Amino acid sequence: MGFFYTGQLMNKTASLPPALMKDFSQFLLDKMGLHFPMDSWRELEKKLEPISQAFGFESVKSCLEWLMSTPFTQKNLDILAAHLTIGETYFFRDERLFQVLKERILPDLIHSHHHSKHLRIWSAACCTGEEPYSVAIVLQQLLSDPSWSIYILGTDINIQFLHKAEAAQYKPWSFRSTPPSIKSAYFTQDANERFTLISKIRKMVKFRYLNLIEGHYPSPLEDIQSMDLILCNNVLIYFSLPFIQKVVEHLVNTLSEGGWLCVTPIEVPYIVDARLTSLKIGDMTLFKKSTQLKPAPHPASSPIPIPQAIPKAIAQPALKPMTNTTSTTPLKKSIYEHAWTAYQQENYQETRQLLEDKFKQQNFLNDQESVLLVKTYLYLNKLDLADQWCEKMLNQNKLDPSLHYLHAQVLQELNRFAEAIQVLKRALFLEPNFVVAHFALGNLLLIQGNPKEANRHFRNVLNLLQKYPPEMTLPGEENLTAHRLLDLVQGLTKQLTKDAAS
Ligand SMILES: C[S@@+](CC[C@H](N)C(=O)[O-])C[C@H]1O[C@@H](n2cnc3c(N)ncnc32)[C@H](O)[C@@H]1O
Repeated sequence: MGFFYTGQLMNKTASLPPALMKDFSQFLLDKMGLHFPMDSWRELEKKLEPISQAFGFESVKSCLEWLMSTPFTQKNLDILAAHLTIGETYFFRDERLFQVLKERILPDLIHSHHHSKHLRIWSAACCTGEEPYSVAIVLQQLLSDPSWSIYILGTDINIQFLHKAEAAQYKPWSFRSTPPSIKSAYFTQDANERFTLISKIRKMVKFRYLNLIEGHYPSPLEDIQSMDLILCNNVLIYFSLPFIQKVVEHLVNTLSEGGWLCVTPIEVPYIVDARLTSLKIGDMTLFKKSTQLKPAPHPASSPIPIPQAIPKAIAQPALKPMTNTTSTTPLKKSIYEHAWTAYQQENYQETRQLLEDKFKQQNFLNDQESVLLVKTYLYLNKLDLADQWCEKMLNQNKLDPSLHYLHAQVLQELNRFAEAIQVLKRALFLEPNFVVAHFALGNLLLIQGNPKEANRHFRNVLNLLQKYPPEMTLPGEENLTAHRLLDLVQGLTKQLTKDAAS
């Protein structure tokens, strides 16, 4: 299913056979949770050559086939992780988060643990250690009583990152937005512009290997069952939805009663678990675990389900398996979950059958099921049926911009461009920050011969994309990442500027 120019531009196929790329990206998803949708295959392909060399292969194709057919060892995982994970991090990375930690969360935990004088903190996906060490520095500033027992754990899938974390020697880049006073108080500098963390802080943090997708939380090597504070920042965005749900469920299992879970604002919508209460503190949304009584929110806090960074009406992923995350016993799969699985496996006939049968039996499909059915019809090229279902959904809910966007996709496929433009304008009236709707509208306006107006929407896309991490899949599209869209739009605007000048 393509959408406007996206389809054509994104189908510049990778040079490896698509079937092989498909199998290998599924393999990476299963083993590491890393999600490489089709539009990122060219990026992935660039990394495959060094990976194949590391495994001793001259041919990438032979390497991938071997990897997928041989027993998967820890060594294989380490080599893949070393090439595929993204090591972007620095000290006190999100100033707002560290302010909330210092002023609210850590004082709250210190207060609630003042009898036991024990605190356990976990930075899941800690990369080269900047995050857990930043927490250690804050705790050091807050707690002068040496009788406290503080356990801070950093885990990651990339062994090389963990070695660097243990060495605790950093280049200036690791302090790119860190208050200078931190550098002077907690690091010693050598002649090569290298900063070594003082041992008092270094000793506070332990580093262990953990693959969040299948590991024993928080670490198989540590005899620790529960954590009072878990930071899981900038990693869920790399996973597919089913894995995000699995990881979140395990994280909440590992959280102690009254413990806190922190993720970045962009990852907040993915944290769905009935054992958590979301609290807005300043600009940040954090989660507190309470399985017995839901605590009353702090007077300065109010629960908010969705962060400002993501357009409100489309913040929840359009397609998401509905599972009961409060229970640890597996539930019987719903029709939707079966249909979703079939859809993910590109088994569109089966998806259609399941959803149509349900509709025949119950004369009803909920919103998620209806959206899935429309997308399935699109893949099956049953465009009239897709159009009818969109009309049906929109009759019941005219205010959902994502439904208008979906309808515009269908109209576009039906070559009803003028109507698609109107529908996209409606979506943008309802949600002016709907980034992929701006892109789609820009493309349609280009097709209709209106480059000036198209360019205006492309500029909106460029502005809005600044809010998204590069690898984040954009709301409203299943396979389009922020970084891929940025590439596309930069190319288009350059071309438009050139055309305008000539
Ligand atoms: C962008 S860094 C985030 C570092 C830090 N949390 C921060 O926010 O600054 C993402 C980290 O996730 C790790 N990672 C990716 N997949 C993982 C997995 N399946 N299990 C554990 N860690 C993983 C990567 O190795 C990388 O260190």
